[in-house]
Amino acid sequence: MKIINPYLLAITTLLLVNCSPKKEVTSLKNSYKDDFYIGTALSASQIEEKNAAEDSLICKEFNAITAENIMKSMFVHPQKDKYDFTLADKFVAFGEKNKMFIHGHTLIWHSQLAPWMEKIKDSTEMKAFMKDHITTIVSKYKGKINSWDVVNEALNEDGTLRKSVFLNTLGESYLVDAFKLAAAADPKVDLYYNDYNLEEPAKREGVIRLVKKIKAAGGKIDGVGSQGHWKLDSPSLEEIEKSILAYSALGVKVAFTELDITVLPNPWDLKGADVNQNFEGNPKMNPYPETLPDSVQTKLAQRYADIFKLFLKHKEKISRVTFWGVHDGQSWLNDWPIKGRTNYPLLFDTKLQPKKAYNSVMQLKEGKE
Ligand code: XIL
Repeated sequence: MKIINPYLLAITTLLLVNCSPKKEVTSLKNSYKDDFYIGTALSASQIEEKNAAEDSLICKEFNAITAENIMKSMFVHPQKDKYDFTLADKFVAFGEKNKMFIHGHTLIWHSQLAPWMEKIKDSTEMKAFMKDHITTIVSKYKGKINSWDVVNEALNEDGTLRKSVFLNTLGESYLVDAFKLAAAADPKVDLYYNDYNLEEPAKREGVIRLVKKIKAAGGKIDGVGSQGHWKLDSPSLEEIEKSILAYSALGVKVAFTELDITVLPNPWDLKGADVNQNFEGNPKMNPYPETLPDSVQTKLAQRYADIFKLFLKHKEKISRVTFWGVHDGQSWLNDWPIKGRTNYPLLFDTKLQPKKAYNSVMQLKEGKE
């Protein structure tokens, strides 16, 4: 078993100042270049290139980017007549400069909405909002952004439509309309429906119905994005595979758009636990505040290896695999669903060093390039 020396890797990382080195280095993006894009979500400070070591790592390992927050409606469209594209422009410029695949996240989502949007009560006003919001943003980045999450998280766990401000004001036609508006603004950009728990059978059926409905109504939908906020033991590889097959059978691409694997206990999994209970500061819910024990590190590495093996098996169907963050220190899972914990869900640790899980993902490709 070949172990990748973390010190050598760190030195290589530091020496790399841009994304187009003359010599091809060992990295995720290079190892998987013939399979699918390997992406990461960028925080605002990463978009602003505030940390040179993080920048080099991003450039070295990833060839696709998603903005973790700054393109969500509350940031980009804070007031009815005011858009703020300052950071979105920097994000797109970062991707262009480094010749990366640029993914837009997200146009229509019930969460992280600007307060004025939540107050819309009337269908005429909501229609006007959707038209203005989607058309303005998609047209602005026409030909620059490669794919969009047009709608995010519109489904309940049982596959029915979530009661959001969009469904309440417009009924289910808002879904088809959103995809039509995005296609009209940029006919060439790939359009995705994105959601979590898409490996659960009932939700999977909901996605299938949704994609068929959009297509039947003359809308353009190019892909399904499965967020991939997963655990060490679930979803099962069988359910992940069933979803890849089911979505691609609809004639759309499959992307894993926000991959991370929590190693911490989840309040919803505790039998009899009251989810409203305050778990903050409870040491039982934060078992590894200093360091991840080797046994769990190994489990995480095995889980990532199993998942990437499955992704490789279906590489023709998969367009992109994006991690939800560059390194453990920035992961949203340190604060969700319980604030102030120490989680270890990604391939790089807080010091930007590759973990065992990185090696296990790389080893799948060794000798096969
Ligand atoms: C998360 C971000 O990572 C956090 O920083 C933010 O506070 C909340 O949103 N599904 C999505 C992402 O589609 O946009 C969410 O990102 C994670 C769940």
